Amino acid sequence: MKAHVKDLKAEGLRVIVRVDFNVPFKDDGTIRDDNRIKAALPTIQELVKKGAKVILMSHLGKIDFKKTPEEVADQKKKNDMAPVAARLGELLGKKVVFVPVTRGEELEKAVAEMKNGDVLVMQNTRYEKGETKNDPELAAYWAKFGDAFCMDAFGSAHRAHCSTVGIPELMKKEGKPVVMGYLVEKEVVALSRCVEVAADQRPYVAILGGLKVSDKIQVIDSLLKKCDTIIVCGAMAYTFFKSEGYETGTSPVELDQLEYAKKCLASGKIALPVDNVIADAFDDPKVIKTVAADKVPSDMMGMDIGPKSVAKFAKIIAGAKTIFWNGPAGVFEKEQFQAGTKGICEAIASNPHCFSVVGGGDSAAAVKQFGYKQKFSHVSTGGGASLEMIQFDGHLPGIDVIAEVK
Ligand code: 3PG
Repeated sequence: MKAHVKDLKAEGLRVIVRVDFNVPFKDDGTIRDDNRIKAALPTIQELVKKGAKVILMSHLGKIDFKKTPEEVADQKKKNDMAPVAARLGELLGKKVVFVPVTRGEELEKAVAEMKNGDVLVMQNTRYEKGETKNDPELAAYWAKFGDAFCMDAFGSAHRAHCSTVGIPELMKKEGKPVVMGYLVEKEVVALSRCVEVAADQRPYVAILGGLKVSDKIQVIDSLLKKCDTIIVCGAMAYTFFKSEGYETGTSPVELDQLEYAKKCLASGKIALPVDNVIADAFDDPKVIKTVAADKVPSDMMGMDIGPKSVAKFAKIIAGAKTIFWNGPAGVFEKEQFQAGTKGICEAIASNPHCFSVVGGGDSAAAVKQFGYKQKFSHVSTGGGASLEMIQFDGHLPGIDVIAEVK
């Protein structure tokens, strides 16, 4: 059994909590979806109540240190954690100290001045080049701020970085508690049901959409062993169509994955769309029509699955007892191409007998946007993390590092 924050005697302890506050922003710089901040509240509130000094660390976006110093400075500005700390303060209804740096006197002083029950948010961990490399010097520097570590960043648990693995590994060696938070617990419980699926929880149906086959290859391999059916939709499906010899027009196809797609199809477990909504252009299309899957003209591209595909998939979904979904069926951000993704939401919502999990990222955003969140058994905060959790049979570096207790 993994150590849990609920059992941590936290009064007076400086507890470093790794959260995933990697939230999307609108063009005007305001937060578009604060769900990941809300999802971390139970752990933060519990630690505040217990009188801990709560030191929150998270990454935000990506910083490419291979770029010029000006470009790096620009990326840092774009991925400043300040608005996230402000939103956390609003949600907690209490003062949150934001430290705009990731090392040095300002940070050290702010931590030293914390009182029991205080909450501090450190600047974006990725401001440090060493973060994604799990640099030992950086891990040691950050680890000294804490008397205990709590992992509650499920969305980042597939990353073996300083703030997810380096710090807790060091702290465990020093005999300090390393526990999981409420969000990680909830995610692990839900996703474990998609890792090992008992006979009475079958059929197990996975729905994979989104752009690239190559991103999802290992998970498809793993899902072929675990699932009864894999529905492949979204742009990914076009690589499968191409491998069948269909004309795919200007749809994105990964030519180096055709053999792999053929191999998957030979399993007999893959269900492909039978019709597609196609358009003459991605941006501002003038011609939109629905055609059979093998009838895409050479100058048009697939944008969504068609109504016959929705009906085909709805039938499969209606018989499922376990469902894992990652990746939308079409370009749902555009109104004309929402029907496929909405149809999948509706089909899952209409099956009261299934345990349904939607992985984070675009598909989770679609579920929320179309108002189906309450109809799913679990909407994960992790995109890559939920896929890798299945791919690696429940093992993620940021989860494996949490201490075991009897
Ligand atoms: C996510 O949004 O999937 C997580 O926060 C991980 O982000 P990353 O892919 O930049 O590591």
